Amino acid sequence: MEEIQRDELIKWGIPEEEIEEEERAKVEIWKYIFGFVEMAVVKCAIELGIADVIATHGRPMTLLELSSALDCDPQNLHRIMRFLVNRAIFKEILIRNDAVPTAYYAQTPISRRLMRTGENSMAAFILLESSPPMLAPWHGLSARVMARGTSAFEAAHGEDIWKYAEANPGHARLIDEAMACDARVAVPAIIDGCSDVFDGVRTLVDVGGGNGTALRMLVKGCPWISKGINFDLPHVASVAEKCEGIEHVGGDMFEFVPKADAVFLMWVLHDWADDECIHILKKCRAAIPKDIGKVIIAEAVIGNKEQQKEDNKLKDVGLVLDMVMMAHTTKGKERTLDEWAYVIREAGFSRHTVRSIAAVQSVIEAFPA
Ligand SMILES: C[S@@+](CC[C@H](N)C(=O)[O-])C[C@H]1O[C@@H](n2cnc3c(N)ncnc32)[C@H](O)[C@@H]1O
Repeated sequence: MEEIQRDELIKWGIPEEEIEEEERAKVEIWKYIFGFVEMAVVKCAIELGIADVIATHGRPMTLLELSSALDCDPQNLHRIMRFLVNRAIFKEILIRNDAVPTAYYAQTPISRRLMRTGENSMAAFILLESSPPMLAPWHGLSARVMARGTSAFEAAHGEDIWKYAEANPGHARLIDEAMACDARVAVPAIIDGCSDVFDGVRTLVDVGGGNGTALRMLVKGCPWISKGINFDLPHVASVAEKCEGIEHVGGDMFEFVPKADAVFLMWVLHDWADDECIHILKKCRAAIPKDIGKVIIAEAVIGNKEQQKEDNKLKDVGLVLDMVMMAHTTKGKERTLDEWAYVIREAGFSRHTVRSIAAVQSVIEAFPA
């Protein structure tokens, strides 16, 4: 806004904060008009393997080195890299070769998360969320809010996400790999923040454990757990990689849960409505010993408005995930402390505790006695 206009507005008695808000809005609205572009360009970078090529090269690369390694058009690559550097996803550094400064592209902590492999890789998660089957339901969000017809995912695909995954093995694998990305970050945070929740647990069943990545890490991090049971739908359990100390069991958690000292549930209950969670939790309660058993839940906890502001930034992801649940599940949602207390109590648990960890999830322990 021109200074003169601003002075005019102030003269007319318009508060300065209002003028500043207006100016911010003029810029911020573009974030929403083209909000998908960042996701699309990052997806493009993963598909091209830009971060992987720089990592393999072992040092920063010039545009020509990068374009010849990727066998792509340097001019288009330059535009992609200019965008990614602007967003601080890659760094551009100038190195003087014979007094002539040459630009090199270098990795950042974010670009390393775009690599296909590695313990911090989030590539599969980005590829899942940006895949056509996962993007289609977002077009039906307002219809879901208006409670017209079926869920957004079913409206787009004619069946819920788990049936869709069963019928589309490629998509099922992408879900498993995406969840494994998160597990590689969340499980160390659980072990660092509260490994004592697993004290005395000799057998642990991971209900809805996907390809078993979380359980493998838990069993390794808590070596006193002598047996892990990775329990998931038959089409998921049957393709999970074999691992010593872990048995993959296929089944439906609405029917039964294999017996163990403790049950672990991560990113499972948020996929379901309250009555369904109560049903699953009752099955989990029936699977553990009444006296020493426990159910360990790793899920987001939505804070009130004040907590959202004060809490660490990762907790804000919970609000985003709540929208994801609205788009991708039939009746799933992220829950507040009170909502968690309700489903746990209604499932017959006598008490529970909640602990924050350095991840999007908190750790909730529910005790039958
Ligand atoms: C969001 S994923 C979580 C995966 C894993 N716990 C993690 O955090 O990495 C939810 C899992 O629940 C499984 N699931 C869905 N319905 C199920 C059912 N009826 N019985 C057992 N598992 C089920 C899905 O196959 C999927 O692996």
